[in-house]
Amino acid sequence: MTKIPFVTKEALNSITEQYPTPFHLYDEKGIRETARALNAAFSWNPGFKEYFAVKATPTPAILKILQEENCGVDCATDTELVMAERMGFKDILFTSNVTKAQEYQLARKVNATINLDAYEHIAFLEEVAGLPEVVSLRYNPGGVFSLGTDIMDHPEESKFGMTKAQLLQGYKDLKAKGVQTFGLHAFLASNTLTNDYYPILAGQLFDLAVEIKKLVGIELDFIDLSGGIGVNYKPEQEQNDIARIGAGVHAKYDEILVPNGLGNLKIYTELGRFMLAPHGHLVTRVLHIKDTYRRYVGVDATAANLMRPAFYDAYHHITNISNPDGPVEVVDVTGSLCENNDKFAKNRELPKVRLGDTLVIHDAGAHGASMGYNYNGRLRSAEILLQEDGSTRMIRRAETMEDYFATIQGFDF
Ligand SMILES: Cc1ncc(COP(=O)(O)O)c(C=O)c1O
Repeated sequence: MTKIPFVTKEALNSITEQYPTPFHLYDEKGIRETARALNAAFSWNPGFKEYFAVKATPTPAILKILQEENCGVDCATDTELVMAERMGFKDILFTSNVTKAQEYQLARKVNATINLDAYEHIAFLEEVAGLPEVVSLRYNPGGVFSLGTDIMDHPEESKFGMTKAQLLQGYKDLKAKGVQTFGLHAFLASNTLTNDYYPILAGQLFDLAVEIKKLVGIELDFIDLSGGIGVNYKPEQEQNDIARIGAGVHAKYDEILVPNGLGNLKIYTELGRFMLAPHGHLVTRVLHIKDTYRRYVGVDATAANLMRPAFYDAYHHITNISNPDGPVEVVDVTGSLCENNDKFAKNRELPKVRLGDTLVIHDAGAHGASMGYNYNGRLRSAEILLQEDGSTRMIRRAETMEDYFATIQGFDF
């Protein structure tokens, strides 16, 4: 099985003539289609909003497209908050952890809705920035999060969120302090490839909302299902069906919330990967081929451009767009970092790769460029937008050596 790039060989040839590899290429059409499909899937909920997780792709031209598709943003740091503010976002969530006082102050200033990660942060927020009118609490139920017999993740090992007892006490404290509007947030499994994750999570959070109403006497304003909907990095994996996911959450909503007088509750999401991953390619060129105990295809991109394979041993599909019908051979595709984990693929079957071939690394649109770093003095590459009319636009230039040297003090470079 294979994956088809969102750009043709001919179109990519003319793009690589214009922009030197490596670069990240984003597909505006696909981004808009996904945003529309998500909004349609949750259109049954009048208050629904996707707050795109900025960390996934913190590139203003991408955020602007999502803004035009009625999305807000979820920020985790002061830098992301400033980016959101400068872009004129009005709908901003702030879901942080180990948060600095200045970050809470900034979140208040830009009128972001704050998701508090810790019970202890209620007092901290009050002290450093004052309590806002709206406060949301992040829940961590502990134990394992499973779907049937499948263990999806281990909240008990996660540093995020607060226990149920802390959550209930937190709402009581906030209510006593005059806060009037409340949210509930949970992110319990990452990159899920099932249409059941959101409905199961929503069911648990809806039950909790009913309990909170009974025990604390407050009606939550929103439930934030956060991120976690995955993408089929491997071509043989089945893609999530967002319409079915939306319908699954709707069924739980009607079953649990409506009969308990909570039928006005808004649903929020903070998806990153689902929104952007498939709509970004890392485009790279083959520099060297080396034969030792394996065949190594050395490319001009490195883990500094896309860290996921090195970091998580994550699979990213690769298309040899220059020679798609060549005879298949088994190779490792590597970058140039002085780290043996700088490999985009290990023992991968690829149509014969030749010097100068262009390779497309799929599903790099989220947690790709944004995780870039500068090891070995490698520089972050450019980001290019393939616009709906087929034209391209550079939306972030590549770093230069002068950028890299710019922060050095005491030496005149
Ligand atoms: C608080 C929060 N929200 C949303 C996301 C986005 O998750 P995903 O890209 O899996 O949708 C993340 C990812 O790390 C996160 O930490």
